[in-house]
Amino acid sequence: MENMDLGGNQEIFCHLKRINDDLYQIVSLSSLSSRATRGDLAVVGDTFTSSILLTQRMTPHNAHELVNIYLITPKSRNTNPMITTLSINNYRSIQQLVVPLGPLNVITGPNGCGKSNIYRALRLLAETAQGGVINSLASEGGLESTFWAGPEKITERMRKGEVPVEGGPRHGVKRLRLGFSGDDFGYSVSLGLPSPSSSAFALDPEIKHECIWAGPFYRPASSLVDRDGPMIKSRAGKKWQVLTNHMNGFDSMFDQIADPAVTPEIFHLRETIRNWRFYDHFRTDKDAPARQAQLGTRTPVLHNDGRDIAAALQTIREIGDSEALDETISDAFPGARLEVMRHEDGRFSIEFHQEGLLRALQGAELSDGTLRYILLAAALLTPRPPLLMVLNEPETSLHPDLLPALARLIMRASEKTQVWVVSHASRLISALNESELCHSIELDKQFGQTEVLGQGMLDKPAWYWVDGG
Ligand SMILES: Nc1ncnc2c1ncn2[C@@H]1O[C@H](COP(=O)(O)OP(=O)(O)OP(=O)(O)O)[C@@H](O)[C@H]1O
Ligand SMILES: [Mg+2]
Repeated sequence: MENMDLGGNQEIFCHLKRINDDLYQIVSLSSLSSRATRGDLAVVGDTFTSSILLTQRMTPHNAHELVNIYLITPKSRNTNPMITTLSINNYRSIQQLVVPLGPLNVITGPNGCGKSNIYRALRLLAETAQGGVINSLASEGGLESTFWAGPEKITERMRKGEVPVEGGPRHGVKRLRLGFSGDDFGYSVSLGLPSPSSSAFALDPEIKHECIWAGPFYRPASSLVDRDGPMIKSRAGKKWQVLTNHMNGFDSMFDQIADPAVTPEIFHLRETIRNWRFYDHFRTDKDAPARQAQLGTRTPVLHNDGRDIAAALQTIREIGDSEALDETISDAFPGARLEVMRHEDGRFSIEFHQEGLLRALQGAELSDGTLRYILLAAALLTPRPPLLMVLNEPETSLHPDLLPALARLIMRASEKTQVWVVSHASRLISALNESELCHSIELDKQFGQTEVLGQGMLDKPAWYWVDGG
């Protein structure tokens, strides 16, 4: 293959996989490109104005044909793909929820309204790509207990109190469904109880359906990879190609098929989901690993229990935004300074210099709130920002006066990464709401069911489950 220079456009040869008459997907590229990568979707023609690549397409006769293709999501590689919609069905207090999302999202609402349930649902989705969803469900008490415990449908008459809330005959099979979509791809998984068997694991839930599609919501025509029980098929032109007929119920398609050359969509999505980062209640008790000196190696990503805090801070000092770290500390604790001590045996620890004190405080001496704020600073100033960072109740044990500084730290992070904050701290929420990027999602519980406050039919993003529901 030979590259040519055409009219200033970056020109790369690539092989395209035809999805339908208008939609193609890049299967391989002849050279590295900052604009395109394997798995990108493209159209042939001139409806899109940017990110033009001259490519060659395989014709049915195995010859190459030169075409202009236009990336469907024209963006530079440092603009991260965002999750634009999250959908949950039949999970704890969430009977059916479709939430639109932006670069910075704050999920709020009174105690018991389902904030943590949304957090857990998103974690379960992430577990699916790491091969851990069945174990996570087991540790939550089993699939049956995570199903929405209310009736399949709450009728208008039940809402008006004319008839009591009761079950009635079930119409659909019981499924826990989780899904999300972004600008380019969407994914959903549907979990159910197994068919009766003599296996000792007969109670393990099973993955019944999975699907990857192009675009913001599932439609049969935009489906790219479809899993129905043991069978996975992927779209090849107008036909479907069966990739396997032997999937185990406990495996997700991410566990089995992630060869970038064969199914770029699965590979791309698995890497996307694996990149999500969750922080939920750092330990700050007296034996917390973050209080101890620890062996340090370069740590661009803080561990979710904060054990490598000193190494993570030193990494920010060396390859990250050291100035931002200083600003963040003095924003919360005026006059204070944070230093990383390297001991002779290779262990690292933190030292906190505060105004009015004659010596620095060690990790073990810091207050819970101070340590937690430092942990959040290390997490949010990571030199390797993830595509998505989720913070569950980051305000825990922080004094309300620290919350505006925390909000500024979160807002800074949201310039590089999509952030979700689950919180019920009003000062944090109102400070975050000052950012124009902030998307506030207020939850409420009606008849035991989590709802987005003020969400009408028109605000609800379109969403369809592959297997009904
Ligand atoms: N299987 C289930 N079916 C229906 N509702 C459930 C189920 N399991 C839990 N719940 C409800 O979910 C609610 C708990 O939701 P969650 O823990 O997400 O609340 P929260 O908004 O995080 O509250 P807090 O602010 O107290 O942390 C409880 O009110 C509980 O009744
Ligand atoms: Mg909670």
